[in-house]
Amino acid sequence: MGLHPQLNRNGELQHLLTTEGLPASILQHILDTAESFTGVTERDVKKIPLLRGKSVFNLFFEPSTRTRTTFEIAAKRLSADVINLNMAVSSQTKGETLLDTVDNLSAMHADMFIVRHNQSGAAHLIARHVRPEIHVINAGDGWHAHPTQALLDMFTIRRYKQDFRALRVAIIGDILHSRVARSQIHALTTLGVPEIRVIAPKTLLPAKVERLGVHVYHNMSQGLKEVDVLMMLRLQNERMKSAHLPGTEEYFKYYGLTPEKLALARPDAIVMHPGPMNRGVEIDSEVADGTQSVILSQVNFGIAVRMAVMSILAGN
Ligand code: CP
Repeated sequence: MGLHPQLNRNGELQHLLTTEGLPASILQHILDTAESFTGVTERDVKKIPLLRGKSVFNLFFEPSTRTRTTFEIAAKRLSADVINLNMAVSSQTKGETLLDTVDNLSAMHADMFIVRHNQSGAAHLIARHVRPEIHVINAGDGWHAHPTQALLDMFTIRRYKQDFRALRVAIIGDILHSRVARSQIHALTTLGVPEIRVIAPKTLLPAKVERLGVHVYHNMSQGLKEVDVLMMLRLQNERMKSAHLPGTEEYFKYYGLTPEKLALARPDAIVMHPGPMNRGVEIDSEVADGTQSVILSQVNFGIAVRMAVMSILAGN
């Protein structure tokens, strides 16, 4: 595998590890395929046979509600056999290495691994290790990437706003520790969004974040002006090694999205959040449950987007 280990020799998707460097044609193909799957979820019989006979292994070494569950639903809707490993009681607790676990599951004829891990690069490591007929999907690795989250976010934006090339998008909160933000920025850039803003205190921004092509703001009153899409992030306390903030009350005062702060954006702006949300920290309940919130649509669209990714991989 070369520079882009997720593409095969024909430039097709072999694994999905990151949105960085993925061509717009592949992103659009995933979104278009997902569009064709949204109808399946509204049928009485919510199944199509595209992955019949295939075995999909969910390997989640970190907690998850939305990603793990929607991958399982998506794989079942494609008629795959789904195996959810409970990593807390797996032989990893007895010292088995990640790659030994993967080798043993491959010997059980795995066709696809969905991997979430707290170490950046874990999914890449597995993708480089497995036989060429096995596909790997990164379901979130450390601070690095969460490509299917970014893709379902792009799908949601396209549904509500149609044209990426006419948008001003703001990503707000703990950018520093966020794999979601990194994947969102790469996808938004590739799809042609002309203005991407990040709004956060200095302590929650990566060094030289401007190099990603984003505009940096440290206060909401300037950063939210004329914004079409607000992408909120939680404080990822589990990834913080030291205190980055005076406290959550202080954070909410300056960066928490309240109805008053939302009124600074365009009147038809949408509010997104990948979850899990911390109400009263980065977002007020009135906004989270309000008319401009599309947060639960994101979760719903996640099923069709993950069906699209799995079916495209299985076909390559
Ligand atoms: N957005 C997201 O990754 O949520 P989960 O951690 O619940 O999967």
